[in-house]
Amino acid sequence: MNDLTIRIDGLRHTYESGVEAVAGVDLTIAPGERVAIVGQNGAGKTTLVRHLNGMVRPTEGAVHIGDWSTSDKSIAELSHRVGYVFQNPDEQIFARTVEGDVGFGPKNLGFEPEQITESVMTALEAVGLAHEAQVHPHHLSLSERKRVAIAAVLAMRTPIVVLDEPTTGQDEDGVRLIASIIDDLTARGTTVVAITHDMDFCVENFERVVVMARGTVRADGPTARVFADQPALEAAAVEPPQLARLARVLGWSEMAVDPSGFVDAYERRRRG
Ligand SMILES: Nc1ncnc2c1ncn2[C@@H]1O[C@H](COP(=O)(O)OP(=O)(O)O)[C@@H](O)[C@H]1O
Ligand SMILES: [Mg+2]
Repeated sequence: MNDLTIRIDGLRHTYESGVEAVAGVDLTIAPGERVAIVGQNGAGKTTLVRHLNGMVRPTEGAVHIGDWSTSDKSIAELSHRVGYVFQNPDEQIFARTVEGDVGFGPKNLGFEPEQITESVMTALEAVGLAHEAQVHPHHLSLSERKRVAIAAVLAMRTPIVVLDEPTTGQDEDGVRLIASIIDDLTARGTTVVAITHDMDFCVENFERVVVMARGTVRADGPTARVFADQPALEAAAVEPPQLARLARVLGWSEMAVDPSGFVDAYERRRRG
């Protein structure tokens, strides 16, 4: 387990355009926790998580990664603690080979040459692209480039990993692969924070969900409880997962967010 608590206190961020994208957020994430952030486009999710590696700085309030305030640290320093996977891989990928791209982070973190080779190959294997190591990233599909971007962060072995909409554009196998990568990260004690629009992916893989709307947190807690909070979901224009909707249409009072929860609730009702 890593020992870095993420602490966001009274955070506000106003862009130069005058848009207040984060409008007062308090959030604590424990070491090794995995948290999903959901909410409509424009809710402020990306702006919030970009504070974690210093790409965006607080206008007001503070963000701590363990004993570091992000306001006092450079992006390069913060990259020792926080790996950030961009929503759009083309903002992140720039090397001429997949291997070069994935090796860039470990090299900058000062890994030894053998350690770089090993972490690059392990990361490429994890995303199923080991056979594409010498390929130019531009010859890959968008979903493959997205996996290169994920590998580039895995290779850095940071104690905290942030994923901005990792499943967008992935087919079912890609989504399953990303879920298994998150499981591996958790097994290693890594903290995982992921923005997602895929509510089924969210309930299947995250025990804690933060719902954002208009730069603020509308709900935060265990997944089943948050998806039962109808007013918060409506305020954030978030559609609950399919099974939760089905349970509601059936008039059930119990919350069922994943298949096993649904079957349990069904069995309980059948037995009366
Ligand atoms: N670089 C930027 N400059 C100015 N405004 C921005 C920038 N990035 C995002 N915004 C604005 O901030 C608000 C929140 O955006 P964002 O954090 O991207 O939300 P989300 O990730 O939830 O879609 C939106 O109104 C968006 O237009
Ligand atoms: Mg976003």
